[in-house]
Amino acid sequence: MESTTSPHVLPAACDFTVFGGTGDLALRKLLPALYHRDLEGQLPADHRVLGVSTSDLDDAGWRDAVRAALTTYVAAEQLLTPVVDRFLARLRHLRLDAEDPEDWDRLHALLKDRAHPEDAVRVFYLAVAPRLFGSICQRLDEIGVVDERARVVLEKPIGHDLASAREVNDAVGRVFGEAQIFRIDHYLGKESVQNLLVTRFANTFLEPLWNSQWVDHVQITVSETVGVGGRGAYYDHAGALRDMVQNHLLQLLCLVAMEPPTYVGRETVRDEKVKVLRALRPMTPADVDRDTVRGRYDVGLVDGAPVPSYAEDLGHGGSRTETFVALKTEVQNWRWAGVPFYLRTGKRMDRRVSEIVVVFKEPPHSMFPGAEGATAPNRLHILVQPDEGMRLHLTAKEPGPGGYRLRPVSLDLSYAAAFDARLPDAYERLLMDVIKGNPTLFMRRDEVEAAWTWTEPILRRWASSPARPRRYPAGTTGPTAAAMLLERDGRTWQEPDQ
Ligand code: BG6
Repeated sequence: MESTTSPHVLPAACDFTVFGGTGDLALRKLLPALYHRDLEGQLPADHRVLGVSTSDLDDAGWRDAVRAALTTYVAAEQLLTPVVDRFLARLRHLRLDAEDPEDWDRLHALLKDRAHPEDAVRVFYLAVAPRLFGSICQRLDEIGVVDERARVVLEKPIGHDLASAREVNDAVGRVFGEAQIFRIDHYLGKESVQNLLVTRFANTFLEPLWNSQWVDHVQITVSETVGVGGRGAYYDHAGALRDMVQNHLLQLLCLVAMEPPTYVGRETVRDEKVKVLRALRPMTPADVDRDTVRGRYDVGLVDGAPVPSYAEDLGHGGSRTETFVALKTEVQNWRWAGVPFYLRTGKRMDRRVSEIVVVFKEPPHSMFPGAEGATAPNRLHILVQPDEGMRLHLTAKEPGPGGYRLRPVSLDLSYAAAFDARLPDAYERLLMDVIKGNPTLFMRRDEVEAAWTWTEPILRRWASSPARPRRYPAGTTGPTAAAMLLERDGRTWQEPDQ
């Protein structure tokens, strides 16, 4: 059994190598996240960041690119010149042609070019196309830079179906042990998502109600206003089910539905999450036709401005890729039997919001005869973004004489108001966990594969069905069929301001 005391320590020296070092993810998320941790004094004293890319940049060129990225993505008051200079001094860049053995020798030389190279923890962050994961790992092994303390970080997607996910996992697994593989799902690094664990398990009042006896249903919404922008080439092969549901939404569902682990540790949480994934009701083709809705955005207005359709964003109109999914599923176990979980996500929706809503059952008996107004089911809204917090909807008596007037009210917890602190970006927490070797918030191989096992029948049915995704105007809540999915069960989607 793993120890309950934290074995995760900050190494004295670390070489953090980013493959795809000039890419969007590196410049927009990874480098700013590492900068923030440097600002807090949390990076190892002897920490280097090695950018590897096909760009013809020297160290100074990459430092300039990173300086520009920090200026764009870090708030001005957080940019302190001495810290920026210290951070930039940690950076080295290597142009690497994956086919050229001499370039790999140069990477080897760079990693050895430091005091006591054998003492440095090596992190290899693969922010590149997944088809390259296997070959990069193999090369790293061949040049002799993978020791037992080395770690590899994989960005999603891990494959595009179960078979390809297994291939990726096998290829990476030939070089790195499972404990050395960190599969990122950045939703698990979000403060409000981690707080879901604390809310559920560091308080007592929710747990007795958190089951089919008291919960009517659960809704999980991740809606975005952005379109596919410049990511069309990737997105058109993925679609919303692979891009968002198979990972982020299923992970949120797991945290809502999982049983309490004995403690929050590296394997215990993942053990419980994988049980949830395996308990999801498998979908038959008839279930897919009845319980899923896919959509694709058309022209419309987002924040008052006209935006193009998916086909226009893509530059061609032929694809059947979905940019919106709504579906109904169930966790088939003792706690949740009969409780629907409704999931929905889409691009170019009316607003950017991620929210989990637990809707409780109606009171069993109406106790206020003649009262004006009605009792409404209690609802707990867990606000993941943009305004992290929680809102509990209750029924209250409107003050005043003359009988009972029942009115909906809410108890609101805003993290911004409760904690006077900047909420770190998800990557800040996750990158530090990689450096310290803590895999609790990363997806284990069996989780990824269980998620694909459940997702695959939907993909197969959609691929063989003559139906196409339903069009929805940009700037809306998606196709009307998504509303029907709940209406036929006598329910409605809870929009954030309700
Ligand atoms: C990524 C998806 O994993 O998550 C993107 O590939 C999506 O399509 C993004 O836009 C959403 O992340 P966040 O943190 O902005 O909700």
